[in-house]
Amino acid sequence: MYKDLIYNNTTNNVTFTNNHTKILTRLAEERFHSSSELSAGLGLSRSAIWKYLHSFSELGLEIIAVSGKGYRLKRRLELLSAAQIKKELKPEVELLLSALEIHSQITSTNNYLLEAMKIKNESGYACFAESQTNGRGRQGREWVSPFGSNIYLSLSWVFENGFASLSGLSLAIGVAVVRALTELGISNMGLKWPNDIYWQDKKLGGILIEISGESSGECTAIIGVGLNLYLSEKTTATITQPWIDLDKITPKNNYSRNALSSLLLNHLLPVLAEFENQTLQHYLSEWREYDCMQGRKVSIYRGQQQFDGVVAGIDHNGMLLLKEKLTNTIKTFASGEVSFRK
Ligand code: BTN
Repeated sequence: MYKDLIYNNTTNNVTFTNNHTKILTRLAEERFHSSSELSAGLGLSRSAIWKYLHSFSELGLEIIAVSGKGYRLKRRLELLSAAQIKKELKPEVELLLSALEIHSQITSTNNYLLEAMKIKNESGYACFAESQTNGRGRQGREWVSPFGSNIYLSLSWVFENGFASLSGLSLAIGVAVVRALTELGISNMGLKWPNDIYWQDKKLGGILIEISGESSGECTAIIGVGLNLYLSEKTTATITQPWIDLDKITPKNNYSRNALSSLLLNHLLPVLAEFENQTLQHYLSEWREYDCMQGRKVSIYRGQQQFDGVVAGIDHNGMLLLKEKLTNTIKTFASGEVSFRK
């Protein structure tokens, strides 16, 4: 059975409440609302309404204010809904899901599931958030997570055969995410080793997998997926990599966040359920189809070391192969940060 919950969480700056949701739902209608109309409609004082409006910009939402008319959101807002997401799940995927939670605001969906698994270790626990106050990326980076415009999802899965059996999981997850985006109608999707979601040399999404448990027995993986649907100029100042969002790829904006969330679960959960039986071999040829690094000049950073060369693909274990410029030999990488060179 599912647990469908909408949480109100507290953060450093803004406490997200049901009133936020009520006001946002009105502001998302494609017309202006005056503060007196909002105040009368919601039974709140005009100064309270003003404070809520002010807090929205702290959450990364853009509000248009026109004197004499009132306020509306700059962009259409589709809040995540557990009911909507469930509606489009395949029946066999529904069986793999143990919980589906949507949080208005959370520190990090990965952190939340890491804690939740200490109480009840289970597969198929899905946690979405409208915003994260401490969204985490790979290599200790921040994952920019403003409210209501992107996807922040974490999923749990319990595996039986230890860490070693999961070495290629991150590549298989990349394949699942690309399958979902392709089904959404996005063409020319790419994967940058090990599992960055790329589109025309720019990062559209990222995957953060965290594994805990016994190295040779039962272990739990938390799979975090972040996808950029819309990032405003204001929120991107701290992003150091070339990035893109779905809004720029499909300017007509005719996709639904809820439908995309269902697609992600439809593709991710079966890959998780099958991974221990199928292993990476099952996904290698598909990963290679999406490989956007093959034959490209790159630099690979491992700790303080830098290796320059040309990417020669991935081996059967999912390791990156680099034809190194300095030695003219093939070097194999299990980890490292890769950046394209001109
Ligand atoms: C990367 O650096 O490429 C990985 C980014 C992963 C971001 C997602 S958003 C949902 C989940 N919660 C987090 O704090 N991080 C992951």
